[in-house]
Amino acid sequence: MRIAVVGMGFVGLVTATVLADRGNTVTCIDINEKRIDWLKKGDLYIYEPLLRELLLKNKTRVDFSSDYSNIKGNEVAFICVPTPTVDGRIDLSYVRSAVLSAKSVDSDVIITVKSTVVPGTASALSSHIGRDIVSNPEFLREGNAIDDTIHPNRIVIGGKNSDYLEKVKRIWEFTGAPVILTTNENAELIKYGSNSFLATKISFINEIANLCENIPGTDVATVAQGMGMDHRIGKDFLRAGIGFGGSCLPKDTTALVSYAKERGVELKIIKSAIDVNNERIEHAVEMIKKELGNLNGKNVCVLGISFKEDTNDVRESKSLELINALMSMGAKIQAYDPSVKEVDGVEMVGKIEELTQCDCVVIASEWKEFETNAIYEKSKKVIDLKRVVNIQTHPTVLRIGAYNAKD
Ligand SMILES: NC(=O)c1ccc[n+]([C@@H]2O[C@H](COP(=O)([O-])OP(=O)(O)OC[C@H]3O[C@@H](n4cnc5c(N)ncnc54)[C@H](O)[C@@H]3O)[C@@H](O)[C@H]2O)c1
Repeated sequence: MRIAVVGMGFVGLVTATVLADRGNTVTCIDINEKRIDWLKKGDLYIYEPLLRELLLKNKTRVDFSSDYSNIKGNEVAFICVPTPTVDGRIDLSYVRSAVLSAKSVDSDVIITVKSTVVPGTASALSSHIGRDIVSNPEFLREGNAIDDTIHPNRIVIGGKNSDYLEKVKRIWEFTGAPVILTTNENAELIKYGSNSFLATKISFINEIANLCENIPGTDVATVAQGMGMDHRIGKDFLRAGIGFGGSCLPKDTTALVSYAKERGVELKIIKSAIDVNNERIEHAVEMIKKELGNLNGKNVCVLGISFKEDTNDVRESKSLELINALMSMGAKIQAYDPSVKEVDGVEMVGKIEELTQCDCVVIASEWKEFETNAIYEKSKKVIDLKRVVNIQTHPTVLRIGAYNAKD
């Protein structure tokens, strides 16, 4: 097929690359001309495992442009533009603008919204442009995005026009994943329901972690392992830490709560999940203060800047929130991250070995390379906020979610 993908961020670029790899011809559109120039030169501003190699392999089938007129002649246009929250409410202006631009150059192209949008968005835009729009929400995880796109758990396609639904379904047939064909509104809410549930799972285990820190003999990692073996619960998203960050869970939970409130519905559980999440950094700072006392003038080495491992995405990074909190108390920060090399006001080093001796090393994300022994040469005090350290080999490390005898 000839397919257009609008918005060259994590979702758009991965979608375009995988579709090209499946033999489609893909036209990529972004209004950010700088990004398009980089992509034409093969420069990726996104770090995502396997993306560079796959894009290179399929470069003859992918075309980059900031000119919407290139959408003309494509059968389907996937809209993958941002949907940030502004003052707690979703900002749909990017989606609206992309849909209107696509429609204005080709009134036959099947406009398919991959961006996360609140229920009613596609239907309202359909009425506005006088043509059905398909909803096809995206569930990929950054850091695993290629594999998630090729092997999704499910494909959700919403809309009214059965020909359009069938066409979009055909595009994703290669995945072999079960398909839910439904209304636009259901498709839109499945995405919010999923992300809000995942966020709730994280906050849930973080509350259990708080409890474990107060009960001798408990450790949240073991409790989560035991809980997760129950298939009704599942082990994913049950890792205690400093809370959820990134470009999706914080904004999606907030947007859903305010969307529901406007309809007179209070989402108490999701609101609590957000509240618990908002307390995680204060909790982590208290742990560090217990170890170091007054933070003024203390040297702290932080491992991990991006919002999670295997990505360079720093949007809503909890690690950055932690660093800012520590700096506001007078701590001096040195940091290392495999994919993030510059952070305003923070001294970054190129590898763990280059960190200088410090009062404390804080592990703030789950990169595999943080399992090295090199970190114990930097300080006697190591605080594991993401539970990456093996307890058997390093029993003295202070771990979030575990009872600490010193408390
Ligand atoms: N990042 C994720 O892990 C993820 C996962 C699932 C769903 N989503 C959702 O997918 C959507 C896109 O997320 P993302 O992280 O890829 O965004 P992003 O911010 O990384 O990239 C969006 C791109 O869209 C471009 N853009 C903005 N307005 C445009 C317009 N009118 N026309 C063309 N291009 C335009 C921007 O220049 C940018 O390059 C969001 O709704 C997000 O919630 C994201």
